[in-house]
Amino acid sequence: MLGIISQYRTWLDLPDVDPVTLGEGATPLVPWATWGETDIFLKLEGANPTGSFKDRGMTVAVSVARHEGARAVICASTGNTAASAAAYAARGHLSAFVVVPEGRVTQQKLLQSLVHGAEILAIDGNFDEALAVVRRIAASNREIALVNSVNPWRLRGQETGAYEIVDELGRAPSGLALPVGNAGNISAYFQGFRRYGKGIPKMLGIQAAGASPLVQGHDVEHPETVATAIRIGKPASKALALEAVETSNGQFLAVTDADILSAQKELARGGIFVEPASATAYAGLKALRERGALPAGPLVGILTGTGLKDGETPLQWIEQTVHHTNSRTVGDTIQSLLQEARQHVAH
Ligand code: F0G
Repeated sequence: MLGIISQYRTWLDLPDVDPVTLGEGATPLVPWATWGETDIFLKLEGANPTGSFKDRGMTVAVSVARHEGARAVICASTGNTAASAAAYAARGHLSAFVVVPEGRVTQQKLLQSLVHGAEILAIDGNFDEALAVVRRIAASNREIALVNSVNPWRLRGQETGAYEIVDELGRAPSGLALPVGNAGNISAYFQGFRRYGKGIPKMLGIQAAGASPLVQGHDVEHPETVATAIRIGKPASKALALEAVETSNGQFLAVTDADILSAQKELARGGIFVEPASATAYAGLKALRERGALPAGPLVGILTGTGLKDGETPLQWIEQTVHHTNSRTVGDTIQSLLQEARQHVAH
């Protein structure tokens, strides 16, 4: 079974589409730690074909767009949606137009869009402005399908993350922490748990403090955070996200950029490399733990995208450097590093 459409077709209520797939879904759910009595699992969505959770929604949105005769797809993006739209459009032989905030998308994400042949339009404005532009263009052009998460097929596809967790744990977890930007994914997970009928976790929506409209209760005109993927001040799926948190008795929570970077480092030192937006979910779980406010387990954190997409941010905390040596002295260098490590442990 390749991809989430063949795996979960009966749950998606799809028209009779021929799937445009790259084998998305079936991502690892890693038992990460036990904090007191609470088991913490992390779902590695960076294991999707383009390195983020967006692929779950994109396979469905692009399959439907092609089925309905679209010739192109368009999206606004902080980078991951663009990369995913570009790849699935290429797979489905459609054109792709991506509108991004100039200077605020990582090089690797731009590169992904470029290698797949998408046209990138960089605007002098943030994600919220880019989304307003693409909505206007798609509304007045029948050949161009909008594949942002305001397209309901995107959310249906992203529901499959919830199905997978239930299939693996045998029930819904008690809580689900995930980063919130445009608020599509939290809405999709909530919808997914509700539809699957095996319980609904407390939805814990984690935002970066400088881009936290759902925590503050009002739009943020100039969002700012190291987690560029969620640098969003006017979430399009705000109403659905509020419903998800209220109905599930969950909460929205803000974490600082410093919290995000330290969560990214902790995950990396445990073998999991995620981008800052994804580390936000883990930073939220840590913050709840510190406040003694962690719900009873099991809890799942959604790590939405791989760290390979952001080569710059970890430079803020990496301590190691490359040891410049040669084939004769490599052994000696290793010996002295081992010695150093032993001394470090001894102290
Ligand atoms: N994590 C990552 C890595 C993301 O790229 C995004 C959103 C989110 C979390 C938040 O998800 O918007 O559904 O609340 N990225 C979008 C993009 C905005 O354009 O790639 P959300």
